[in-house]
Order: sequence, then structure tokens, then C-alpha cells
Amino acid sequence: MAKTIVALDLPSVGEALSLVDRIGEAAEWYKVGSPLYTRAGPSIIEALQERGKKIFLDLKYHDIPNTVAQSVAAAAELGVALLTLHAAGGLDMMRAAREAVGSDGPRLLGVTLLTSFSAEDVEQVWDKELRSLREEVARLAALAVEAGLDGVVASALEAEALKRRYGSEFVVVTPGIRPAGSLAGDQARTATPGEAVRAGSDFLVVGRPVLQADDPVAVLKQIEAEIAKGAEDAP
Ligand code: C5P
Repeated sequence: MAKTIVALDLPSVGEALSLVDRIGEAAEWYKVGSPLYTRAGPSIIEALQERGKKIFLDLKYHDIPNTVAQSVAAAAELGVALLTLHAAGGLDMMRAAREAVGSDGPRLLGVTLLTSFSAEDVEQVWDKELRSLREEVARLAALAVEAGLDGVVASALEAEALKRRYGSEFVVVTPGIRPAGSLAGDQARTATPGEAVRAGSDFLVVGRPVLQADDPVAVLKQIEAEIAKGAEDAP
């Protein structure tokens, strides 16, 4: 069954940990991104691990191969379970990351296109005509596979084709999840939990719908119910 990852996009360690404690057993997985990690450093990872949580370290590494290999090795020492690097960093960078972690280390995920990106954004940044966002995601995902990464971060719209092509072992992590009735915010490509599960996503990343809720546990339970329903309907 797909798992929910709560994106801990909160401005301070205190607020992050009080949310984690308020959520309690209702979530096992947390995503630590660059804002919180930049504030708190490895101590946030240790605090989550003390609470029995699993960590997705979303620092989206993108640098020269040697630097990324060292960063990934450091993340592996911290004991995180999932981490991200930009597929746009290229084959050598991703291969260096792969070599830096053993087979029992964190699973390495390629970031293809940020879910906030539209076709116009891609055209502006890369100065190229796009036939479709999907093709661009597929092209970058193929690079990640060639480099030996374990999976990718991809919207639900792309998950289905990626799973079909690379098989059920290929890990797909999907942000931009919006339970029925919540706001999209800056996400250009959103999906409900049910849609993401039916598309084959393994991990569903949810930030603001949980962080801004009056009752985060109720929202997580709603998401769990939508995941279970989606799993029943999945092909
Ligand atoms: O608040 P929201 O649910 O939109 O948060 C989504 C989280 O997933 C954010 O932390 C964002 O950085 C992250 N993310 C994303 N798109 C990606 C990779 C990560 O939105 N491609």
C-alpha cells in the first residue's frame, strides 16, 4: 500500500517537532527539505529518528559529481531512507551518487521536473521547444534509470507511464497531493490521493493540506482512506 509522507515545511524546529508529536502514530514518514535542514541541520533527523520516524531527505542535490557523492555519503551516514538529486545534474553526477551508497543505503530518487513547473517555465529555463511535459519527464527519468537510481519524484500524471515502463520495483514518489476539497497553492500538477495511488505512486508527499489544517490527524486519516479506496480500484 502507498505511504503518506508529511512534508515538514515549517519555519522552526520547535514547530516541526510539535507537529510531529501532535500527529503521533498517524504518520510514519516525514520529508525534511532545505528550509528546515538549513535551520536545524542533522539534529532534526536525529529528533525524528528518536521518535521512530522514517526520513525522506529532500535536498535535491545538483552539483559536480564529487561533491554530490560526498553529500550522498553523508546523508547515508545519517540513516535517511530516501533522498533526492536532480536528474538534470547529469549521468556522471547520478552515477557518482550511486557509487557512494551501498545497496542497503538510502534509496536514490531523481527529480525530473518540479511539479510547480509548467511547459512555459521549461521553455524559458532550457530555451527549447517542448512537445510535452510528459516527454521531458520521461527523458529525465530514463537518464536516472540509466545511472542506476532507484526511482524518481514525479507527479501522478506521469507515474502510470513510468511504472509501466520500469516495473513495480521502480519507486515513484509523488508530491502535489491534494485531498478532495483542498487548495492547489503553487503546484501546477496536483492529484488526489486516490488518483496518485491508481497511477501507481508508492509514496504521496503532502505538505500544506496537513500543515495548515486545524486537525492534521483528521486530514491524514482522510488521505489514508482515499489511499485505501484507490488501492481497491487500482488496476
Ligand atoms: O505543500 P505541498 O503539499 O505543495 O508540498 C509539497 C512538497 O513536495 C514541498 O516540500 C516541495 O518542496 C516538494 N516537492 C515538490 N515537487 C517536486 C519535489 C518535491 O513539490 N518535484
